[in-house]
Amino acid sequence: MSLDLEGTNTFEKDIEHAQSLEELNNVRVRYLGKKGLITNLNKGLKNLPENERIERGRQLQELRSRFESILLARERELKRANLEKILKNEQIDITLPGFPFVAGSLHPITQSYYKIINIFTSMGFEIALGPEVERDFYNFESLNIPKDHPARDMQDTFYINDEMLLRTHTSPVQIRTMLEQKPPIKIIAPGKVYRCDSDVSHTPMFHQVEGLLVDRDIKLSNLKAILTLFIKRLFEENTKLRFRPSYFPFTEPSAEVDISCVVCKGKGCRVCGFSGWLEILGCGMVHPNVFKAVNIDNTVYTGFAFGLGIERITMLLYGVDDIRLFYENNINFLGQF
Ligand code: PHE
Repeated sequence: MSLDLEGTNTFEKDIEHAQSLEELNNVRVRYLGKKGLITNLNKGLKNLPENERIERGRQLQELRSRFESILLARERELKRANLEKILKNEQIDITLPGFPFVAGSLHPITQSYYKIINIFTSMGFEIALGPEVERDFYNFESLNIPKDHPARDMQDTFYINDEMLLRTHTSPVQIRTMLEQKPPIKIIAPGKVYRCDSDVSHTPMFHQVEGLLVDRDIKLSNLKAILTLFIKRLFEENTKLRFRPSYFPFTEPSAEVDISCVVCKGKGCRVCGFSGWLEILGCGMVHPNVFKAVNIDNTVYTGFAFGLGIERITMLLYGVDDIRLFYENNINFLGQF
């Protein structure tokens, strides 16, 4: 007996037309949903005589299962098609060259900065810091460089006004520390300093590390010992040192330290001007006038101070012949460190 299952013969066409899971779901709702066609036809069963009702009920049940399996098959098909599309579009061609990923590194100046600091902190020096915009008093006056002192010519200064300037060295941190702390004092003061100067060996901004040790019975021999240890750890163990008498207003006696040339090992070459020696830092015993300026009794305490330029040391460590290279931000240069 053929029953009128009106409206259901379009099912297969609708399935074919469904191009997405969403469209497919609409078809499911339309035929099998709570208000769908099959459900409606089922509702009509109760009006039929019993023999027809059983037969038609069975047919409707069959139809529902057939639709369900067709829906499931179509769903699988659409899902597979989706996946294939994704796989195709998002395919990675592993033979293509990769994106270069350049790892950065610390700037050579920062590297030697850390090296120098590490050596001194391992010897018990503490780090002290001070401002880069400094008072004339801390930068000059208290360091035994009064206004009319010819030594001011040694350091071409950027003045902000009569009272304020960009510090020309890290020595003002000595003063600030001695005004704040009582001896024993054992500090290094790393930082930027500024001078109105620019050529192959000078930049208007550069870095220094200052050292200061004040205690009872501090002697020149202590200064020699500390600096010798430092130089041998920073350069090679067999590096030679030479203390050459010099002049700084804030130390007496004063010396400049030369090391045996890192390039020719003292034989004489272009780097050391054929002298075999390289000038590396300034130092000396703290001048009584400096102690006076900070109210430290120089009949009880003595001390030494030293100051070194980080750029100069870095140039010697790596054989760089133009200081300006450090600040041109050329990746080819910086990438070598
Ligand atoms: N401040 C001196 C300079 O910049 C270096 C120095 C520091 C010398 C401490 C002696 C003692 O040239």
